[in-house]
Order: sequence, then structure tokens, then C-alpha cells
Amino acid sequence: MAKKLIKGGTVVTAIDQMDADVLIDGDQVVGLLGRDHSVEDVEVIDATGMLVLPGGIDVHTHMELPFGGTKAADTFETGTRAAAWGGTTTIVDFAVQTVGESAMDGWEAWMEKARGNCAIDYGFHMITGDINDQTLKEMELLSREGVTSFKMFMAYPGVFYSDDGQILRAMQKAAEDGSTICMHAENGIAIDVLVEQALERGETDPIYHGIVRKSILEGEATHRAIKLAELTGVQLYIVHLSAQEALDEVIQARDQGLNVYAETCPQYLFLSLENLGNGFDGAKYVCSPPLRDEEAGHQERLWQGLRTNDLQIVSTDHCPFCMGDHHTFGTQKQLGQGDFSKIPNGMPGVEPRMGLMYNGGVVEGRISLNRFVEITATTPAKMFGMYPKKGTIAVGSDADIVIFDPNGSHTISVDTHHMDVDYSAYEGWEMRGKVETVLSKGKVIISDDQYHGSPGDGEYLARGTSQYVI
Ligand code: URP
Ligand code: ZN
Ligand code: ZN
Repeated sequence: MAKKLIKGGTVVTAIDQMDADVLIDGDQVVGLLGRDHSVEDVEVIDATGMLVLPGGIDVHTHMELPFGGTKAADTFETGTRAAAWGGTTTIVDFAVQTVGESAMDGWEAWMEKARGNCAIDYGFHMITGDINDQTLKEMELLSREGVTSFKMFMAYPGVFYSDDGQILRAMQKAAEDGSTICMHAENGIAIDVLVEQALERGETDPIYHGIVRKSILEGEATHRAIKLAELTGVQLYIVHLSAQEALDEVIQARDQGLNVYAETCPQYLFLSLENLGNGFDGAKYVCSPPLRDEEAGHQERLWQGLRTNDLQIVSTDHCPFCMGDHHTFGTQKQLGQGDFSKIPNGMPGVEPRMGLMYNGGVVEGRISLNRFVEITATTPAKMFGMYPKKGTIAVGSDADIVIFDPNGSHTISVDTHHMDVDYSAYEGWEMRGKVETVLSKGKVIISDDQYHGSPGDGEYLARGTSQYVI
């Protein structure tokens, strides 16, 4: 591969903004040059008037996740390609250990699904659905393979759920290995009672999904997870935090100096309980935790948490299910006609994340440009052991770069998106800013509104342990 020079743009990292040209040799950045240089024999990529950003990192996706009798609609091929279109150049997906299965087998099965199919680099967290002595040993083996974070569920009894004893044991082991516990913090046992009672009252529409999954039950589970983490000394990362009650718990833990962190997702920043109304159309917005009541102040508190670094990351929890039949996986959201509890949980989001956060965050004045880079790329890389290979533009970093037009625009729509799902949660939203060119490890994979990559460009990332301590 000839050397490349991204010329004339403004390079933005989590801390700097500089008029610099980026020299790339092979798959790496080899120089950040002032404008007065005389580099020759390079392929020039003109970035005049553009922002030159580190490729986005989405540390929470579920390609092909089996859920509720179907599978998430995007495969590793379609989902990672869609991610690239949106300016994301790395994902960390979730491999699954089901009850009775070895965690190692679960990870290998997910490696097999991804191998040779991804457009961008990918790593895995491991969902540990069955904590027993063997799983605890496998956690250590997995960490040596670059799986240094383990997701546990306080929700979904009978599916992914772990009780407090299992959580404690996994946390003790993760603390020993320097791994991170990622927690889905909702009190699933209490929620299931409320679900049953709602259905008995004939409350079957999607809106009741949002009503029964009370924010106080996210706050309670977050508190419990934090106390168990405090006891064991493990690094705890609360995934898809949606409720101010949960944020209050994280703030308190951080004020105490605990290694407790949290992400939120665009759906909790931009959408609300209202979207779950309108009859069965609300099924498009069924995810867990649910979208929250905007008037109760959750959204504003989440934005505040991002500004104060009590929330460190915005990921997507990309887990799409079609409203109509999916061409391969069949009936999806419709499984929950007449019973909201049977609607597969999850929403599409891997493609619009960067655009939504630029428009809704930077353009609308809620966060700075540097903070935008920090929460979408740099901190994800540090939190999950990929920095500085990923998450910044620096000499020696992978040349995962997005050339972004701050004055361009685009409209989000199912008609133009690349995710393999038949709706957009943000249909018709007009966004300022546009991803123009995407490089993954030095290769231009998006330019001139064309995709130039191929399945297999993306490689497995064996991650280190977390590098984030603040
Ligand atoms: O609704 C969601 N979040 N679906 C994906 C699984 C999970 O809990 O992350
Ligand atoms: Zn979850
Ligand atoms: Zn998830």
C-alpha cells in the first residue's frame, strides 16, 4: 500500500484540535505534519475544510444475537459494514455463554460467526450466562485471549439472569484477573412480577414495556451491583444506563473513589417513553432498559452526566429486529403482538450513532468537539484495553480515521441506511455533519458515497485490560 497523506483538514482528538496533515504508511499513522512540509510520493486525500477524527468505537453491539425466539437482524457482515458507513471503525460485540454451555465454546462460536465477515476490526465481551467453577476458570483463559470484560444480567430471569451469589463469584474472579464486569442493571425478578400483573390487567401494548420496567428498579439494581463491586474491588461498567436513579448511584460511587463507570446510548438521549405509544408501532422502540419519560428529566440528567464525566461513553446497544419478516430470521417484533413481553428487545443504532452525537451533542451545544471524540472513540478504547492502537490519531496508532464534513448534512432514513433492518428509529431526522471518507487500518473503505471494503477486512482484536482510571 502506497503512503497516504490526509491533507488540509483539522485533526481533532480528545484533547487537541490542530491544523495538521496525517501521514499514513500501511495500516498505521506515521506522522502528524504541520502544513509546511514537502512529503512526496504519497497518495493525497484532500480534507480541506473537513474534520479529521479518530474512527468511532462502539463497545456495545449484538450482531446475530439470539433473543426471544429469533436473532438480531444484522449479521457481522451487514452490521459492521453499516457501522463503517456511519463512521465507526471498531466494535466490541458480545459473545454468549448459555446455561449448560462452556464459556470458551460460546466465545469460539462467536469468533466463527465473525471470522472473515467483518468490514472493521472487532473484539468481544463475554456474556457469562452460567457461573460455575468451570466458567470461573474459563474467565481467566478468555482474558488471555483478549476477552477482558464479562457481561452479567440482573434482568431476564430464566434467560441470561445471574443471582447475587453468581455475580459476587464472577466479580471476585474478574477482580483477580484485572477484568471488567459489565452489568445490565435492572431488577428482573421484580420486573417480571410487574409484567405478569400488567398482562393480567389486559395491558398488552408496547407502551407497557416502558411503564412496568420502572426506573427505580434500574436504580436499585445499579446500587446492588456497585455494592458487590465495592466488596470485591472489581472494575464495574454499567451498560446502557437510562435512568437518573441509576446515574445517581454511579455518581455516588465515583465520589467515593470506586472504579465504577457507565455508558449511555443515543436512544436514551434522544428518544423517550412517548415513542413506545402509538399502538404496536411502539414495538420499534422496545429495548431494555426502556426509553424513559422525558418530562421526569432523565434525558437532561444523562446529558449532564456526559458533561461531568459521570457517564464516560456513548455506545449503541445495537440489536435490531424487523417490524416485518426478516428475510432469514423470519418473524421478529411481531412475535409480541398481543403481549409486549414477547417483543424481542433491542433497537438498531450502530450506523447513526456518530451522526446523532455530532448533531445532537456538538451542533446543539451540549458537548464540545473534543468531548464528542472522547465519548465515542477515545474512552471506549481506554476503557476496554485498545488504546492507543485505537481511539486516537497519533504516531503508531492504527490509521482508523473519519474525514467528516462539519457543514455537510444528511437525513436518516430506512431508505438510505445500510443496517439490515426495515425501519429507522430516527426516520426523517435531519443531521448537520456528514461522514465523507472512512479509513480502516489505512484502507479507504468509504468515499464518494461508495463502499470499497470487503468482508474480512476487519480482524479480531485481542484486548488488554482496562486502561481507564479516573
Ligand atoms: O434491549 C436490549 N438491550 N437488547 C439487547 C440485550 C441487552 O440487554 O443488551
Ligand atoms: Zn443489556
Ligand atoms: Zn446490549
